[in-house]
Amino acid sequence: MITRNFFLFLSQNKFIKNKATKWGPKIGAKQVIAGTTIQEAMEKAAELNKHGLVCTVDHLGEFVYNKDEAIDSANYCVRTLDAIAESGVNCNLSLKLTQLGLDIDRNLCRDNMLRILETAKKHNIFVRIDMEDYSHLDATLDILQELRQSYDSVGTAIQAYLHRAEKDVQNLKGTNIRLIKGAYKESPEVAYQDKKEIDGNYLKIIKTHLLNGSYAAIATHDHNIINEVKAFTKENNIPKDQFEFQMLYGFRNELQKEIANEGYKMRVYIPFGEDWYGYFMRRLAERPQNVTFALRGLLSK
Ligand code: FDA
Repeated sequence: MITRNFFLFLSQNKFIKNKATKWGPKIGAKQVIAGTTIQEAMEKAAELNKHGLVCTVDHLGEFVYNKDEAIDSANYCVRTLDAIAESGVNCNLSLKLTQLGLDIDRNLCRDNMLRILETAKKHNIFVRIDMEDYSHLDATLDILQELRQSYDSVGTAIQAYLHRAEKDVQNLKGTNIRLIKGAYKESPEVAYQDKKEIDGNYLKIIKTHLLNGSYAAIATHDHNIINEVKAFTKENNIPKDQFEFQMLYGFRNELQKEIANEGYKMRVYIPFGEDWYGYFMRRLAERPQNVTFALRGLLSK
């Protein structure tokens, strides 16, 4: 049986990743990944903007082995910010600190972020640090805190499956936070394993952050959660400009447009780049139905 754990195992397997890159288009990756170049990502963002959707782009890449690769990754983020400004799309940037050298040298990673944020400030573009697995959480929050001493337009994401999520959200009062259920495999010592408990904690941290008066990006494809958030914000007079919904590119496209048509800000997360493998495997792990993408791709010519 194809299980969540199986795909999460595959997402971290570097040998299979190297082999898999060749057959990406065949297994349907292109339905959820917006091409390999900045130009393609900008075209997709412009297209979505036409439908009233705003965007965030993420240059995929997770395993960075040396300083030069980390600096290259940061340069790529800078070029992406320049391209967003030049093309005039309504779009911001998402990135991962491991791409920028978090596992190599924390100072290198912070310096890369400072360079990116200086460019972002010049263009007035927000930068979101995606949250990775638990082993990177403290380092990510420490770096964020340091960056926020000089830059406002930077935030991160908090995962509701973690027991400590509520405490982290309280500590991040006043920060623009993406709230998510969480995509990695974590141990019962640190994370809820039961879907009901995760959903319960998810709603709890969303409400906490909103009632704190902070900006929330509610990133989920779960219509039940979305409906609860709509009702909660109405009941509590939380203005529509204090939060946004987010979904991944290629998922629930009709619902994305529906939400935007109702006057909510709806942001689409557009991943692009050659290094699509880990991202794609995590999506298969979340929702076995996504495997039909892959099978359809394999069976078609
Ligand atoms: P979940 O997968 O729990 O589904 C709940 C219900 O929603 C399903 O039972 C079904 O009814 C419905 N549903 C879900 N998907 C559907 C579909 N495609 N079609 C029809 N119905 C569907 N994670 C992380 O650890 N760090 C991060 O930084 C981010 N960043 C991020 C950004 C954005 C924009 C999104 C949308 C997600 C992330 N994530 C993430 C991933 C996140 O943590 C989580 O793993 C996935 O979003 C899956 O959980 P959902 O909340 O979408 O619903």
